Amino acid sequence: MNDILDAILQRRAVKLFEPVDISPGQREQILNAARHAPSSFNSQPYKLYWVGSAAKKAAVAKLCMAQTPAETASALVVAVADIGSMLATAQGQVEWMRRNNFAEAKIRHYERTARIGRILFMPGPFGIFAAVKRALFRLLNLWKTIGMPPLSRQELLKWATKSTALACQNLMLAAEALEFNTCPMEGFDRSRLSRYLELSCRYHEIVMVIAIGKKSRAYVEPPQWRRPLHATVTVL
Ligand SMILES: Cc1cc2nc3c(=O)[nH]c(=O)nc-3n(C[C@H](O)[C@H](O)[C@H](O)COP(=O)(O)O)c2cc1C
Repeated sequence: MNDILDAILQRRAVKLFEPVDISPGQREQILNAARHAPSSFNSQPYKLYWVGSAAKKAAVAKLCMAQTPAETASALVVAVADIGSMLATAQGQVEWMRRNNFAEAKIRHYERTARIGRILFMPGPFGIFAAVKRALFRLLNLWKTIGMPPLSRQELLKWATKSTALACQNLMLAAEALEFNTCPMEGFDRSRLSRYLELSCRYHEIVMVIAIGKKSRAYVEPPQWRRPLHATVTVL
């Protein structure tokens, strides 16, 4: 447990890297840790693009406004919230349940829940379903305690962004544990980078780009400041 705390407390956003290789095995460990993050309904609504080849890394770094962490990193990971993968994810889980001999009743229950989830989460053309569902939920909420699911496309992307951000933090801590350093970045040209990765504006939104590498010996780390605990925490 102390190793985990150490990784959390040691992690810094490093702004200058020196050239090192990240082996395919290390890359897999880092990405594997990312996908082990918790996600809403275990829906894992994200895609991670690992950009490691020199030419592609240079192109993506340029779209990160040529920031030094991007320019000097060994690899860049573009983390994308993805609301278009729900059906494929549910099918993947059903196949996994069958391979692992889950009871047929359990599989059917999961399929039913996943179908209801997809219907609930479908904004429909021009957000029409979303408006109807919002009205129904508001009505129901008058006498029942219920949570409001994400209904519009914007709400769905926000919903997917939460799970994506957790995967990003896992990724950064895994990199730290393997003695690499990282820098999360939201300074990038969203539309150009989306076009470069051939993303769909309907289903995808780039959440952040993470630069990964080894901290340069020339890098002078600034002291780390955090708001005091009492300013961010309320104990009830
Ligand atoms: C969502 C997000 C976006 C960020 N974007 C950038 C960025 O574009 N460029 C950059 O140099 N650092 C970026 N950072 C890093 C922050 O500046 C850094 O985490 C913060 O100053 C605290 O420093 P520390 O992580 O070393 O404690 C970003 C961090 C987060 C979480």
